[in-house]
Amino acid sequence: MASFCKNDSKPVINGDILLGQIKRLSEEGLDGSGGRTRLAASKDEKKGRDLVVGWMKELGLDVRVDKIGNIFGILPGVSGNLDNALMMGSHIDTVINAGPYDGCYGVLSGLAVLRAFKEAGVIPPRPLAVGAFTDEEGVRFQPDMLGSLVYVGGMPLDEGLASADGDGVTLGQALEEIGYAGSEEPGFLIPSEYLELHIEQGPRLDAEGLRIGAVEGVQGISWWRVTIGGKANHAGTTPTDMRHDAGLAAARVITSMREYAKDSDTTLATTGEIAFEPGLVNVIPSKAVFTVDLRDPDGEKLALAEKALADCLNRVAEEEGVTVASEHLANFAPVKFHPELIQKVEDAAARRNIPSMRMVSGAGHDAQMMARVCKTAMIFVPSIGGISHNPTEHTEKEDLILGAELLLDVVLDLLNG
Ligand code: GLV
Ligand code: MN
Ligand code: MN
Repeated sequence: MASFCKNDSKPVINGDILLGQIKRLSEEGLDGSGGRTRLAASKDEKKGRDLVVGWMKELGLDVRVDKIGNIFGILPGVSGNLDNALMMGSHIDTVINAGPYDGCYGVLSGLAVLRAFKEAGVIPPRPLAVGAFTDEEGVRFQPDMLGSLVYVGGMPLDEGLASADGDGVTLGQALEEIGYAGSEEPGFLIPSEYLELHIEQGPRLDAEGLRIGAVEGVQGISWWRVTIGGKANHAGTTPTDMRHDAGLAAARVITSMREYAKDSDTTLATTGEIAFEPGLVNVIPSKAVFTVDLRDPDGEKLALAEKALADCLNRVAEEEGVTVASEHLANFAPVKFHPELIQKVEDAAARRNIPSMRMVSGAGHDAQMMARVCKTAMIFVPSIGGISHNPTEHTEKEDLILGAELLLDVVLDLLNG
């Protein structure tokens, strides 16, 4: 029992409300193919934001929106000022055709923790806050984790607001349009601790039959957009050795980065987006534009992978007679979370006799930005089959509730400490 709680008033998670809110939020942006699409600051994401803000207000939270569109619900502590807050959170934007849990689970579990305090009539000794950060996915506006990056001062506000989508719409314009260009300065509330509960999005917990991951950190991420310039020509008349085929050059880069990753024990390389011009069946492509997502838990190995990509681009340019240009879209070093908080997650699982493991996150998270300004850790629950960024993303209800209960345990532990 937390020492600040009266004997009969321990905060407890209301699992039904949590599951109900996850389901309700997952209905915003349903795209007819089984998934939902709520790209950052889009009309459908606004509907998700409105829901979350409504639920924050129902709880009587102090709702604040900052200039980069991050939303916060704050439950004041005993003293009434905002010093020394404990923050939870994640994001509610999604990739295209997404599953129901990525990000939303962390925001709504944070709300479930605050609801537990409210329902128990317990005023926390220090403020509790829940954040829903803007554009974590980085699908519409790059880089990913943009809202939390700006929040912690890792990118100037103006630069974040100027990030433009494929149609040239800036994040600033999009936020104005949906009514979420708030007035708070990003970073107005720097908490003492930040906890993010998330589905694992990978296969390890499920494969090992474990229910909780105590996340030690996040691997490094390096995103590139590569543009290859070739020469459009007739597919039926141009001899192979006279071609400057931008499409073929792109394919060579993609396969050679796959070979690089295969030879490495930890580096991952992905091309998830590609377009050819003119994009016709009988014309050799004059242009190929594609992305490369490189990841590694080791910063030095990530730098080597970046060098391998640069070398490969030069080699292919020379051998295929094409031009290459690359733009760095995101560049985040590996992050280590706070040992004391990681231990508290592990201890909380042990107290409930829940098998857990320490692990490094393969996916990017707002927590990796918050770790720059406060003690930070994450809790993972299993993703069935390790599937995420896919409408079939699934986590068992019992694990969703358990994760939130564990989050509450760690919060109570920190407030007691
Ligand atoms: C965020 O979801 C990422 O790309 O890791
Ligand atoms: Mn996420
Ligand atoms: Mn995601």
